[in-house]
Amino acid sequence: MSTVLAIETSCDETAVAILRDRQVLSNVVSTQILAHQPYGGVVPEVASRQHVETINWALAQALAESGLNWPEIDGVAATAAPGLVGALLVGLTAGKTLAMLHQKPFLAMHHLEGHIYASYLAEPDLQPPFLCLLVSGGHTSLIHVRDCGQYETLGQTRDDAAGEAFDKVARLLKLGYPGGPAIDRLAQTGNPKAFALPEGKVSLPSGGYHPYDSSFSGLKTAVLRLTQSLPADLPADSPVNSPAGWPAAPPTADWIADLAASFQAAVAKALTKRTIACAQDFGLSTIVVGGGVAANSGLRQHLQQAAAPIGLRVLFPPLKFCTDNAAMIACAAADHLNRGHCSPLTLGAQSRMPLSDVMQLYPAELRLPAQISLR
Ligand code: KG4
Ligand code: ZN
Repeated sequence: MSTVLAIETSCDETAVAILRDRQVLSNVVSTQILAHQPYGGVVPEVASRQHVETINWALAQALAESGLNWPEIDGVAATAAPGLVGALLVGLTAGKTLAMLHQKPFLAMHHLEGHIYASYLAEPDLQPPFLCLLVSGGHTSLIHVRDCGQYETLGQTRDDAAGEAFDKVARLLKLGYPGGPAIDRLAQTGNPKAFALPEGKVSLPSGGYHPYDSSFSGLKTAVLRLTQSLPADLPADSPVNSPAGWPAAPPTADWIADLAASFQAAVAKALTKRTIACAQDFGLSTIVVGGGVAANSGLRQHLQQAAAPIGLRVLFPPLKFCTDNAAMIACAAADHLNRGHCSPLTLGAQSRMPLSDVMQLYPAELRLPAQISLR
C-alpha cells in the first residue's frame, strides 16, 4: 500500500490530496472561477498567479485534514502534462521541492490518466480492461485501458473537445463561464427535442463515417446560426419568446432553455452512440466516464439508458471527482508507486503529451523495488 500526496494545477483549480491507495484521506480543491469569470474564460497568467498564491494553503490544509505527518507519506506526485505550462509549473515545482526536502520518490503525472483513475475512487475493485470515455475541457477520447500506464486511444474529437463545445455554446447563449454547468442547469427546464441539431459525423476517405471519432464544430455553428436569427443584443437575463424570423420549430416559452436542452441532448447522443459501438466492437463490458463533462446530467442519463439493456456496465465518478481534483491524480500515482515507478526531478512541464506516452514519465533506470502485491 502506498500513501501519496498529489498536487494538481494544470488549469484553473489548485488542488492537493492525500490518498492511501484508493482511500481518500484529504481532498482540497480551490477553484479560480471567480478570478476568471470577468474574462469569460481561463486566463493563463491569472491561473498561474492564483496557483502561486493558493498552493501553500492547499498543502497545509490537505496535510491537516489527513491527520498525517511527512514520515507517513510514501511519495509526492504532481501533474506534469498536459495543461497550461505556467500553471503546471507551480504544482510541479512545489511537488519536486517537497519530494527533495522530505526525501520521497517523486512522480510526475499525466492529467488524463488522473481522469481515468477517478473511477477507481468510487469503485476501488474496478479491474482493467475497460473502455474510458474521457470528456473534459480540452479532450474527448475513447480510451482502451489495458492496465496502469497502458492506454490506447480508439476514438477522439476532430475539432473541439466536448467541454469546449459546452463552454462556447454557453458563451453564445450568454450564460457565462464555466459553460457546462450553466447549460446543464438550464437544460433541465428545456425541451431537448425542440431543435434538430447535427450529430457531428466524421467522414472517412474510403466512404462512410468513422465509428468512434466525433466533431463538435458543426453543432456549435448550428447553435451560432440559431442565435443569429434572434434580435440583436439578447439580454442575458431574459429568455426570448417567439424570436423574430425563427422558421423551423414553433417557438416555445423558453427559447434559450430549449436550445440548451437540444444542444446537450445532441452531445449526449453523439457520445453515447460512439461509446457503445466502441465497447461492443472491442468486447469491453465496462465503460467508465471521466473529465468535467462526466458531470453532465444528460450524458449520464443517455449513456446509462443505452448501456443497461445490452448488459454494459457504466461507471460515472461522483461529481466532485469528475472535474479537476488531486484525489484522482494521487490515485493514479499510488498505482504507479506500487509498481516501483518514479520520475526524475529534472522533468519539465509539457503543454501536450499523448496518453500513450505516459510511461516516459517513469524511466526504467529509476525503477524502485515494487512495494506491494498488485491488485
Ligand atoms: O476535467 P475538467 O474539470 O478540466 C479539464 O481537464 O479540462 O473539465 C472542465 C470542463 C469545462 O469545459 C466545463 O464546462 C465542463 O467540463 N463541465 C461540464 C459540466 N461540468 C463541467 N460540462 C457539461 N455539464 C456539466 N455539468
Ligand atoms: Zn481535467
